[in-house]
Amino acid sequence: MTEQLFKQAKDKLQEIKDYLVANNAELEQFRIAFLGTKNTIRPLFSEIRNIDNARKKEYGQLVNELKQTAEERFEQLKGGLTSAATEHVEKPDLTRSVNANNIGTRHPLSLVQEQICDIFKRIGFTISEGPQIENDFHNFTALNFPPHHPARDMQDTFFISESEIALRTHTSSVQIRVMENSEPPFRTISPGRVFRNETISARAHCQFHQVEGLYVDKNVSLADLKQTLFFFANEMFGQGTKIRLRPSYFPFTEISAEMDISCFVCDQKGCNICKKTGWVEILGCGMVDPNVLNNCGIDSEKYTGFAFGMGVERIAMLKYKVNDIRLFFENDVRFLQQFASVV
Ligand code: DAH
Repeated sequence: MTEQLFKQAKDKLQEIKDYLVANNAELEQFRIAFLGTKNTIRPLFSEIRNIDNARKKEYGQLVNELKQTAEERFEQLKGGLTSAATEHVEKPDLTRSVNANNIGTRHPLSLVQEQICDIFKRIGFTISEGPQIENDFHNFTALNFPPHHPARDMQDTFFISESEIALRTHTSSVQIRVMENSEPPFRTISPGRVFRNETISARAHCQFHQVEGLYVDKNVSLADLKQTLFFFANEMFGQGTKIRLRPSYFPFTEISAEMDISCFVCDQKGCNICKKTGWVEILGCGMVDPNVLNNCGIDSEKYTGFAFGMGVERIAMLKYKVNDIRLFFENDVRFLQQFASVV
């Protein structure tokens, strides 16, 4: 019996010495087991009456040592936990990802606008920009929309006041600024934001972006326009893309056309994107009206030109199958992050 009780006490001593904790909850378990009111050392004290008289003193020392060791071990374990916690705060975590902060991505409209500009830059077009707040002359009158002309209704906009100042409805206004300030020949494209008084919906917004194109020189013809746009369509939507021009009307071009491309989604078999026609409209274009050249001091007897204008949102929506224009302006990172890999 005595031997057995000695063994039991020694095992417990070893258990306390070897005890490890990983967190505060485990430390608390240790405290309850060895230092709490119902601790497991206390019953060993009462066993003293079952020890042979000769060894009672030795046993008493052993259980006292048990109690003391438990107290010391508790302090050690507690110290270990707090130093581990401070260590964590003080030392940098070298295993963390290098890009712990989320890095933003380029906006899909910037990406598409840049793709468009890059294609035209490769065939000698320069980039020109103009103000978003325009006067009536550059946005309408010089482009052959006289005051009260019904064509102005197609582009209702926001007027700053009763005056001549308005938010531009198209980047065609930059054509005028370029022609006023330089001598032909010039080939230029003008990207930028435009505004219209539109009800916001999945298909329309009161702000969007356009890229305007203008080429003025001697003997510029419709064939040049078609070839330039054919090159653009193939670069932008893939080799093998077909184009077609449909007659249309714009005050600043004569003749005027809308350009469609063959539907790259269904390969002209008919789908929702092309509304089962096999063609999708992507831009307006035409030969610059001689009146517009003359309004800008360019001799229309000597020079001719072509122009075109396309909506960046429309092209981005087609290319990346975005079904709601509002997504471009909401800045929801879940949407924007999907373009992270587009370069
Ligand atoms: N400015 C026109 C619009 O916003 C687009 C356009 C059509 C521009 C024909 C042009 C053009 O230069 O020739 O609807």
